[in-house]
Amino acid sequence: MASMPNIDTLHFSEEPNVDTVPGPKSRSLLDQQVEIDSAAVAYPKRIPIALEEAKGATIRDVDGNTFLDFFAGIGVLNVGHSNPYVLEGTREQLGKITHTIDFPTEARLDLIEKLREIAPGGLAGSSNVVFGGPSGSDAIEGSIKLAKHNTGRHGLLAFEGAYHGATSGALSLTAGKKYKKGYTPLLSDVVHAPYPTVPTEQERDQALKAVRQKFEDPYGGTEDPAGIWVEPIQGEGGVVVPPEGFLKGLRKIADDNDALLIVDEIQTGLGRTGEWFGSDHFDVTPDAITMAKSLGGSGLPIGAMVYHEKFDTWDAGGHIGTFRGNTPAMVGGLRAIEYIEAHDLLAHATDVGEYLRGRFREVSEVTDRIVDVRGRGLFIGVEFVDESGEPDANVVKEIQTECFENGVLVWSAGRYGNVLRIIPPLVLTKKQAEVGSDIVCEGIQSVLKTR
Ligand SMILES: Cc1ncc(COP(=O)(O)O)c(C=O)c1O
Repeated sequence: MASMPNIDTLHFSEEPNVDTVPGPKSRSLLDQQVEIDSAAVAYPKRIPIALEEAKGATIRDVDGNTFLDFFAGIGVLNVGHSNPYVLEGTREQLGKITHTIDFPTEARLDLIEKLREIAPGGLAGSSNVVFGGPSGSDAIEGSIKLAKHNTGRHGLLAFEGAYHGATSGALSLTAGKKYKKGYTPLLSDVVHAPYPTVPTEQERDQALKAVRQKFEDPYGGTEDPAGIWVEPIQGEGGVVVPPEGFLKGLRKIADDNDALLIVDEIQTGLGRTGEWFGSDHFDVTPDAITMAKSLGGSGLPIGAMVYHEKFDTWDAGGHIGTFRGNTPAMVGGLRAIEYIEAHDLLAHATDVGEYLRGRFREVSEVTDRIVDVRGRGLFIGVEFVDESGEPDANVVKEIQTECFENGVLVWSAGRYGNVLRIIPPLVLTKKQAEVGSDIVCEGIQSVLKTR
């Protein structure tokens, strides 16, 4: 087995090194992309850069500019880009066998064992794992089938502010209207209840009441849902942490109504929030969790669902997909988990996340344009409003550009696009956190000065 290099050794550097961006080579590739790639391409519109290579929490463009990566492929590179311990296993496996459908391999069974071990609450040790298509959306599709198959019902309940993916079933659960426009109707009998956006008991109780009514009110309007789909902390919705007791309340409603509680851990999973799963913060046992994003370790795509063994009622072929046996991604996923364990990265994410939130809170104390700094671990949101207290997406875009020009890549979130989303790799060093947050805080201050 390879050695596991310390997190300090994983990166190009502790600090960014950026000339004028976009540089000439980036410009040329960006122009070519506009000519021949899809009109659906989105990220380079906000961050005009062509990528060359990446290590740890640093990423380099084709002109040799080095950035601190504070969005990690939107929560994919939890153990950093090109983690040598992960890559070694992945490469070795690539040379042996890659595509195995669902025949047993050591890679598959070792990853399943590990996921069963770290699964939240009572899922640990009492669960099965299913792989399907390689994306998060595919894992969500699997969870919809699981809930329908086990309840015989077809209605689904999700939340306002939710993002669960872009395939038809997952898109039905997603709340963002912009993603659905032109593609509805999708699945029928899907309802969205309010997600508690303020951490108060009153907000929590109102939200739970609305969910309960969807099941128990004889004039609730739709068939009883087969399941409740919830992000333990909403990502795309703005890194929204629900009040204590919300997930437990959902657990009780699901139990009272013979529905499944499905917690979408696609963005919050595998250490992102300082626990293995977002569910762990709320002491809840879901019936199933979905995961993808960081599960492949190095960015290779793989989606999975861990579900309680009592729901393992499918016949052979009950949930399938050609790419459900991507062994290099399976080895990578196992090695990423081992790396997180060996380097105590859950505690590290908690510490560094707290430090970063502290830095952003300091800035928020001297402006009324930041109304909230929130999150858990290295899943952080900073919410902005304009002078009249309305959500301000433009200020977030400008801050993003300012950070980019000074060497830090940050992304946005929020129903109105007014939340700065900071989700760096868990291997971000303390020094990188200091340097990066200096740049982000200066970016915020310099943009707000112009307001
Ligand atoms: C919480 C959550 N669920 C589902 C998805 C969909 O995953 P994918 O884009 O891999 O289909 C995402 C993607 O951002 C997500 O954040």
